[in-house]
Amino acid sequence: MNSLHPGETLSLWLDTEEMPQFSKLQQDLRVDVCIIGGGIGGITTAYLLMKEGKKVCLLESFEIGSGQTGRTTAHFSNALDDRYYEIERLHGQEGARLAAQSHTAAQDAVEKIVREEKIDCHLERLNGYLFASDDDQEVLQKEFDAAHRAGLGIQFLNRAPLQSFDTGPCLRFPRQLQLHPLKYLSALTKIFVERGGQVFTHTHVTNVESGKIAKVKTSDGFTVSCNSLVVATNTPINDLFAIHTKQVPYRSYVVGFQIPKDSVPKGLFWDTLNPYHYVRIEQGETEDILIVGGEDHKTGQEEHPELCFTRLENWARQKFPMITNTAYSWSGQVMEPIDGLGYLGHNPMDRNNVYVITGDSGQGMTHCTIGGLLITDQIMGRANPWEQLYNPGRISVRATGEYLKINANVAAQYREWFSAKPRPELHTLHRGEGTVFRDGLRMVAAYKTTSGQVEFMSAACTHLAGVVNWNNVEKSWDCPCHGSRFDCHGKVLEGPATQALKPLDDVNIEIPGPERVPTTDLGTSLTEPLGFA
Ligand code: FES
Repeated sequence: MNSLHPGETLSLWLDTEEMPQFSKLQQDLRVDVCIIGGGIGGITTAYLLMKEGKKVCLLESFEIGSGQTGRTTAHFSNALDDRYYEIERLHGQEGARLAAQSHTAAQDAVEKIVREEKIDCHLERLNGYLFASDDDQEVLQKEFDAAHRAGLGIQFLNRAPLQSFDTGPCLRFPRQLQLHPLKYLSALTKIFVERGGQVFTHTHVTNVESGKIAKVKTSDGFTVSCNSLVVATNTPINDLFAIHTKQVPYRSYVVGFQIPKDSVPKGLFWDTLNPYHYVRIEQGETEDILIVGGEDHKTGQEEHPELCFTRLENWARQKFPMITNTAYSWSGQVMEPIDGLGYLGHNPMDRNNVYVITGDSGQGMTHCTIGGLLITDQIMGRANPWEQLYNPGRISVRATGEYLKINANVAAQYREWFSAKPRPELHTLHRGEGTVFRDGLRMVAAYKTTSGQVEFMSAACTHLAGVVNWNNVEKSWDCPCHGSRFDCHGKVLEGPATQALKPLDDVNIEIPGPERVPTTDLGTSLTEPLGFA
């Protein structure tokens, strides 16, 4: 696990941009606005409110951009992956129009910021292409009609401009946008700080209290008091039920392949498979990187996540035979709302001065930018045309089926508490891997360190007691209920949980072999027997 970002894998963006460093919060603070989360949602909101003259501070658990903004593929698109005909069914024709308008406005806002602030972040306007398999062609016609009703001037083409395979008929979405997300975020953060904003990293928030003056408490015992609080973490930490019952966490996988320069034309490309593939190019000096994403699955509900990379690579090599090498593999987390649109604005059941940015729906770049624009208007007391559409407290009657389905899935995850999960032979566990087993009434998460010690901790997620599962790609414990994630030692990587997994020092497990170091010597660790890898 890298100390700078919460993950085992390294994205192209994390590898190619050095992010600005900040110190921890080491005193109590009083500000106009406190923002939790140093990704694109938090930094955009901080920047916009700073420009409005607000005194703003931002707190981040790890480093700026170390969460999902460092793990995206940065498609700033108004081609909604839930499809306009579906958004129209769920939110009406006017809702679909506002969705198209707001995502387009987000693209324009980002371009304006980049141009005004002269940010070098590889920004490009380019076309996006949506293509379908042979038996899925009617999707394109339905989407073409609905997107036009929503006000987008998209075109039907015979094929996308890819030479290596025939996509068949496709829709062209003009003037999409791509950039290097961490170059953008890094520059925006520096500008925010140069103009008086405050940023504190490695500052872990353990509690938030709403009220006329909202209070944010950190694990180091400091408090930020503020008139307005914006929680721009991937999924909110200040909400137990209202939003977590309306969105589902997914893991998504990305591979970056080396390809000869200019061998694949620039563009954003998506198919309509479920899960779908998403493709873009990042140009280099002597070669390009073809970025291919997909193979999404519900967080904590895939036994062999490493196979997602294999499937992605197989698909990519078949479609793009010019691939030479694999340069990057990484994964990220996506929050899928039940009705296809982000939750941006006033947090349900809190006072009106607490706001959330969540429910990225696989369109995190534009949704987070919309969140920044919308919440800035709300804090400044201005009307915003998208307020109702993205209202986090909305109840979507037409999404009732999806609501019931996702909550039945969450309920099913709690059945893990009754599963047998026999005690493992820990000598068969590889170093750097983990497993979950039953120990009487409790479930235990066991992790074998790279030096061979076994650490035990409770497998009960500290949010609402789901049983965590081992993620061998990111070397993390992932909760299948609402997507909390913990590093291999149990420390929180992603909310909604805010507390670490509880260490256990009384696990009575037989480890075959002659050597066993007393737990008193190692705290919560046991050493594997000699002779076993
Ligand atoms: S994330 Fe809610 S129970 Fe684990």
